[in-house]
Amino acid sequence: MLARTPRRIAVSTFKAVRGMNDILPDRTPLWQRLEDTARVVLLSYGYEEIRLPILEQTVLFERSIGEATDIVEKEMYTFTDRNGDSLSLRPEGTAGTVRAVLQHNLFRNQAQRLWYMGPMFRRERPQKGRYRQFYQIGAEAFGMPGPDIDAELIILTRRLWHLLGLRGLRLEINTLGTATTRVRFRHDVVSYFSANAEKLDEESRRRLQSNPLRILDSKAPELRELIQGAPTFERYVDPESGKHFRQLRGILEHNDIEYQVNPRLVRGLDYYSKTVFEWLTTELGAQGAVCGGGRYDGLVEHFGGEPTPAVGFAIGMDRLIELLSETPQNDLARGGNEPHLYLIVGGDKHYGSAMRLAESVREAIPQIRLVTHCGSDSFKSQFKQADKSGARIALLLGEDEIARGLVTVKHLRISSGQITVAQSELIAYLQKEFASLCAPR
Ligand code: HAM
Repeated sequence: MLARTPRRIAVSTFKAVRGMNDILPDRTPLWQRLEDTARVVLLSYGYEEIRLPILEQTVLFERSIGEATDIVEKEMYTFTDRNGDSLSLRPEGTAGTVRAVLQHNLFRNQAQRLWYMGPMFRRERPQKGRYRQFYQIGAEAFGMPGPDIDAELIILTRRLWHLLGLRGLRLEINTLGTATTRVRFRHDVVSYFSANAEKLDEESRRRLQSNPLRILDSKAPELRELIQGAPTFERYVDPESGKHFRQLRGILEHNDIEYQVNPRLVRGLDYYSKTVFEWLTTELGAQGAVCGGGRYDGLVEHFGGEPTPAVGFAIGMDRLIELLSETPQNDLARGGNEPHLYLIVGGDKHYGSAMRLAESVREAIPQIRLVTHCGSDSFKSQFKQADKSGARIALLLGEDEIARGLVTVKHLRISSGQITVAQSELIAYLQKEFASLCAPR
C-alpha cells in the first residue's frame, strides 16, 4: 500500500519562533566583520577560544547566576531530558566556561585567558535590541586577582569599539565588594525598602523577598526618588575592595578611558564581587547596554574548584550590529559578499565545460568569487541575473566560444564593451584584473 502523502503546507505557515531572528545574507557581512575584528583583538591580548555546548544541566545556571534572578526564575528554556535530567539552553557563557575549565583542569596553576562566541537564550519580552536567541562574544580571565586584568578587559573592549568605528559608547563602573559586605548592605537595603513598602510597585515588592538589590536597578520613574534615598554601597565597601577599585580607576585614567562611577550598577547575575562594569549607548532606546561584565572571585570555588579569582565580560552582538548598521561607513545597500564574476552558459551541452572552466579559475585565484549560472535560461535572462548579482564581470561560454576555445568577457559596471579571451589565457587575464575587481566600489 502506498504511504499517505503528507498534506502540503503553505510556506507561510511556518514562522521563526518569536524573539529568534534569521540573519539574512544582506546582514551576514556585517556580522562577519564584527566576528573577525573581535577574533583579531582577543588574540592580540592572548585570549584563546573555547567552544562550549549550548545545553547544560539546569542546576549549573541556578547555582551561578542565582535562583532568585530574573534569568533563572523566568527566562530559561528548560526541559526534562528522556532520562529525567533537567537541561537548559544556556542563557550566558560564564557558567559553562567555569564548568569546562574545572572539568578539563585547564588551570594547571596558571592564569587562563579564554573567549567564546555564540548564541544564548533568554525568554525575555522581545523588543528592539532584546531577543530570545541573541549572540554574545565573551571573555573570561582566571587566576589573576588584581585590578590590572579588570582594566585590561576594559581596554580590550575600547580597542574593539575603536576598530569597529563605534563612537559615543559610555563606560559605567562600580564595585560590589565582597560577599560579606554585600550581606550587610543587603540587610540595610531590605530594611529601607520594607519601611517604604507602600511606595514600591508590584515587581519591586516581589523582589524585596527574592532579590532586593535588583530594586536599586529598577528603571520605573515612580521609584526614582525612593531609590535615590536608598543606602548606597560606597559606605559598605571593605578596605580591600575599595583599594582594588581605586587602583582600577587609576589604570583607566592613565589610559585615557573615561568612565562614570554608578553606585547603582548591580547587574542581573548573582556571581559578581568587586568590579562590575557596563558599556552603554543612548542610540538603542531602552536596551542601552552593549557589554557587561565584572569580577566573580567566588564562583570557581563555589563549583568545587580551588579558590580562583576570575573576571570577564560579554558583548551583546545583536546590539552592536544594530549600532554598526547605523554608522554610515557600514552602508548595507550592498552586502559586500557579491561575486566578482558571473559565468553565463549557453546550453545544457556545455555544463561540463563551464564547471571545469570555473574550477580552473577558483583553483588559480582562491580569493575570487565566481558564480556559475545554473539552469537553462536564455542569455538575456542570464545577463539580467548577472547584473543583479552585483558581479563586475560576466564571462560568457556559448556555442561559438566553445567551438573556438574562447571566453567572452563583459565588464558589467563600466561601458568598455566586451572582448574575447582564449580560454588558455583567461586566468592570466583575470589575475591582471583581480586587483581592480577587489577594489572598493
Ligand atoms: P549580561 O549583562 O547578562 O552579562 O549580558 C551581556 C550582554 O549581552 C548585555 O550587555 C547585552 O548587550 C547582551 N544581552 C543580554 N540579554 C540580551 C537579550 N535578551 N537580547 C540581546 N542582547 C542581550 C552576561 O551574560 C555575563 N555572562 C557577562 C560576564 C562574563 N560577566 C563575567 N563574565
